[in-house]
Amino acid sequence: MKIDILTLFPNMFDGFLSESIIKRAIESNKVKINIHNIRDYSKDPHKKVDDYSYGGGAGMVLMPQPIFDAVEALKKDNSFVILVTPQGIPYKQSIAYNLKEKEHLIIICGHYEGFDERIRTIADIEISIGDYILTGGELASMVISDSVIRLIDGVITKESYENDSFTNNLLDYPVYTKPSDFRGMKVPDILLSGHHENINAWRLEQQIKKTSEKRPDLLEKS
Ligand code: ADE
Repeated sequence: MKIDILTLFPNMFDGFLSESIIKRAIESNKVKINIHNIRDYSKDPHKKVDDYSYGGGAGMVLMPQPIFDAVEALKKDNSFVILVTPQGIPYKQSIAYNLKEKEHLIIICGHYEGFDERIRTIADIEISIGDYILTGGELASMVISDSVIRLIDGVITKESYENDSFTNNLLDYPVYTKPSDFRGMKVPDILLSGHHENINAWRLEQQIKKTSEKRPDLLEKS
């Protein structure tokens, strides 16, 4: 998979690309991520990317020209263009599974003070990562990339994500490690029993219990 991210703040991605699972996925060629500075595509002599809003109003608005030129330069037949914005469809695990099937994602990070409405026409989908406003789309683009990359074959073990919370609309079961008794809080006996069938049954039971306590809305869907 290839992911091209368009942003005004490329340095924000330094940590994301250079640590842990994402770093390993890049090194093992499971994913190729390119960060593009929107400013580099500006045709303005001063590399301007935003201007005042027609009709007045606070803040500067991202102009369409640099975004259109960037997307047109990067887009191929197999590309899928995502615009991250608080007005998008609410992001969830099932969308991550759909995006994982795409060969090429282009993610446009919105501007903190708004972007020209015509930019929406270049996107295949608009995604919001939640009902709150971020200073820009950069964190949202990292959230989406991270959740998709970990689903790519070989990035983490299949076992690790098949039991994820939300995969079957159930929250994950509780897990424990050593010691078996920490400050009087004991690991449930069943997990020490070595009886895998009983352990699996207990885990499913716990998933249903946790989900009904914490997210009954999910249980209705599952
Ligand atoms: N940009 C600003 N806030 C956002 C959000 N909640 N989701 C996606 N993009 C955003």
